[in-house]
Amino acid sequence: MSFTSPEQRQAFIAAIPKAELHLHIEGSLEPEMMFALAQRNAVDIPFASADEVRKAYAFSNLQDFLDIYYQGMNVLRTEQDFYDLTMAYFERIHADNAIHAEIFFDPQGHTERGIAFSIAIDGILRAMDDAGSKLGISSQLIMCFLRHLSEKEAFATLEEASPYLDRIAGVGLDSSEMGHPPSKFAKVFAKAKALGLKTVAHAGEEGPPEYIWEALDLLKIDRMDHGNRSLEDEALVKNLRDNQMALTVCPLSNLALCVIDKLEDHPLKKMLGLGLRATVNSDDPSYFGGYLNDNYEATATALNLDKDDIVNLAKNSFRGSFLGEDAIEQSLQRIDEYVSEFDRKIG
Ligand code: ADE
Ligand code: ZN
Repeated sequence: MSFTSPEQRQAFIAAIPKAELHLHIEGSLEPEMMFALAQRNAVDIPFASADEVRKAYAFSNLQDFLDIYYQGMNVLRTEQDFYDLTMAYFERIHADNAIHAEIFFDPQGHTERGIAFSIAIDGILRAMDDAGSKLGISSQLIMCFLRHLSEKEAFATLEEASPYLDRIAGVGLDSSEMGHPPSKFAKVFAKAKALGLKTVAHAGEEGPPEYIWEALDLLKIDRMDHGNRSLEDEALVKNLRDNQMALTVCPLSNLALCVIDKLEDHPLKKMLGLGLRATVNSDDPSYFGGYLNDNYEATATALNLDKDDIVNLAKNSFRGSFLGEDAIEQSLQRIDEYVSEFDRKIG
């Protein structure tokens, strides 16, 4: 069914219950908070104002962005900083009617600059607990390995995570994709799996289909982050569809990092048409100009998504989550009830 007006579509998107499955918590650091934390922690930053920071956010590829992203996280020093960062994210997506989030963090981005693993994770976990009790948002934590570092360093990070394994749902793989194929991390992912952790990996954001095959065959991922370039390989599309592998697609990120030239070229609608389990996510919202609903809204406008597409995307966000079967079923029902109520109201 199609909407009768853009306003109606916007209202439908705004209130539909949804989950976010691809969000780097360090990528939700808003320039205003960067400034406040720089002051609180007496950290020098090379910008005079929040507006100046925003002006620096013009990227031509992933690496351009990563250079600024790692610099930005330098203001995060204390457990309270990580709490404030994470809680601000939850409050923001609460306004978007997100009811579940599976968030990434980059411990090596902090330990490398002398911030203890425990400082970062304790602050994040405390905010996750408060998001559950105060906002009714459930969440899970995924620890990413930086792929520009060595597998040995990833093993050391997994070791550091030992005391927290009951609070970590899975491991992921992020940072510079080109030149750092998934095969580089096959052993550490096998170890993580043996420890009972889920595995996900960024694949096919910039990298070729061969990297995506490696993520599937060697890392044995449970979910794929991005996956845009899967569409270049028919056999890969068939594999992803047959296995209903969730893809955590990030439209505004793809636009900001020049993975696509314009949102109208985004492959999301095509992915849905091919029967792929695509989801919509924000990736690094403060850097890419939009949170969860902004991503839905901009993509719906550019690709003329209809109501069935939006419902499918919201449902996929739960189907592709690491929630248990019952919680997934309840969330799908909640969406069905939402749609019935919406239809009843518009008569
Ligand atoms: N780290 C934060 N955002 C990322 C992205 N979009 N791709 C790879 N690594 C990242
Ligand atoms: Zn990402």
